[in-house]
Amino acid sequence: MTDISVEVCGLRLRNPTMLASGVLDETARSMLAVAKSGAGAIVTKSIGIEPRSGHPNPSVVELEDGLLNAMGLPNPGIDLFSKEVKEARKGGVPIIGSVFGGTEEEIAELAGMMAEAGADAVELNLSCPHAKGYGAELGSSPERVETSCRLAKRACGVPVFAKLTPNTSYIAELAKAAERGGADAVVAINTLKGMAIDPEAGMPILGNRFGGLSGPAIKPVGIRCVYEIYESVEIPVIGVGGVTTGRDAVEYIMAGAQAVQLGTAVWIRGEKVFREVCREISQFMKENGYDSVKEMLGVAHSGRH
Ligand SMILES: Cc1cc2nc3c(=O)[nH]c(=O)nc-3n(C[C@H](O)[C@H](O)[C@H](O)COP(=O)(O)O)c2cc1C
Repeated sequence: MTDISVEVCGLRLRNPTMLASGVLDETARSMLAVAKSGAGAIVTKSIGIEPRSGHPNPSVVELEDGLLNAMGLPNPGIDLFSKEVKEARKGGVPIIGSVFGGTEEEIAELAGMMAEAGADAVELNLSCPHAKGYGAELGSSPERVETSCRLAKRACGVPVFAKLTPNTSYIAELAKAAERGGADAVVAINTLKGMAIDPEAGMPILGNRFGGLSGPAIKPVGIRCVYEIYESVEIPVIGVGGVTTGRDAVEYIMAGAQAVQLGTAVWIRGEKVFREVCREISQFMKENGYDSVKEMLGVAHSGRH
């Protein structure tokens, strides 16, 4: 079996796959199950200071090539969630605590609390496209991204990842701002803002009207964003958006991602997707003469080797 382990910001991962924030990661029980099914690391559901119920239903629309969701960041709040993080660490894979907030200070405070709860790294969700007041407004401003990262770094002693929005024309600028603020890595991309209408009813389907598109449909956008960011910053990039197969993961790695996250793919292929994608990555490497994941990193920028 080919060695597909990687190291990202000092975190040792048995393989380059991570569970993306928002799917099967709101309880220790589900995170332990995902760890058992082969994921290299787990990103938790985005957590805020207070419990939050999220948007009214319907909050998910299933499309041919992805999902449109407007969950609205439902979560139990950091106090209750801390014990889930502690418990989830028993799965033996790094736990990356995702947090969101309305201000830079709130985000930093949560980052500190998440690290205190035992998270191995913290991911700042600066990019939710459908929760007013949280994420995308703040995350579209390079200055606010920079400040959020700077304050979060001060508040916690673990690596800080900045998860960026693709709903601007300047994601590489946001990545540079995160780097200036001291972020250890950037994560790209969150969902693309979208909408679906029920023609019979003559009205938007989602309770929130607008939502975030994920899954295979957004992969080319994610690949382009990772490619641009890789050329703009020195810190590691983690790719997310439509990774469903080993070949998708390889595309992201070749664009410049040191690891990839899978969200909608868990919905499409089930929890077994982590083991299967790892097998597919190994198979690709064997067939194409790569001995390590690192050897594939960023090759699309300069041609092979
Ligand atoms: C149902 C659902 C809930 C999500 N919740 C969050 C969240 O709480 N925080 C976050 O940063 N991203 C969230 N996301 C976005 C994913 O983490 C990911 O960035 C996006 O779905 C693209 O990856 P994918 O195509 O593999 O799903 C959510 C996605 C889905 C489908």
